[in-house]
Amino acid sequence: FLTEVQQKVVVLGDFSVGKSSLILRVSKNEFLEEQESTIGAAFINFSVNVDNKPNQIQIWDTAGQEKFRSLTPIYYRGAIGAIVVYDVSREYSFQTAKEWVEELKEKANPKLIIALCANKIDLLEEKKKLLKEKEYADENGLLIYETSAKTGKGVTEMFVDFSKNLPKD
Ligand code: GTP
Ligand code: MG
Repeated sequence: FLTEVQQKVVVLGDFSVGKSSLILRVSKNEFLEEQESTIGAAFINFSVNVDNKPNQIQIWDTAGQEKFRSLTPIYYRGAIGAIVVYDVSREYSFQTAKEWVEELKEKANPKLIIALCANKIDLLEEKKKLLKEKEYADENGLLIYETSAKTGKGVTEMFVDFSKNLPKD
């Protein structure tokens, strides 16, 4: 028999880094140039196959605007995984990502699996290798992914690989 595993995953990060776009890409294979800014939060259930078993993940899309920031603990509480997104074309959003990582380490489930997602890589010049981000991920025990919700590059791969890295119980 196949047992279904339900895993709560929260997606965090500064406003406009592409959280909703990544979720729209993985769930519907769509992209909107004028994606609306998220108010509050929403979730979708998503199934990925891991070792021939369906892993049900519940992905929570949060609002990145500063004014919603105090609400976010409601969404990461009880999560087994967190994907912290930043925009490679906007340096400041990496600072915000680091703040989220710190907050998660302090306040979330100590067993939380955290990933850093470098989104909008379609806007990055070939040469840039995200060295400092990789070093930061390494030092902090984070998984790291490079994605473009616009082209679709790396998006499904990220959610599947992330799901594989979550504990099974
Ligand atoms: P909030 O809901 O305000 O927190 O923002 P968000 O993180 O959900 O960002 P959203 O998905 O709304 O995307 C913001 C803008 O960036 C939109 O105009 C998207 O079309 C654009 N965008 C998202 N992902 C990418 C990407 O990978 N590449 C490019 N070039 N643009 C992207
Ligand atoms: Mg959004």
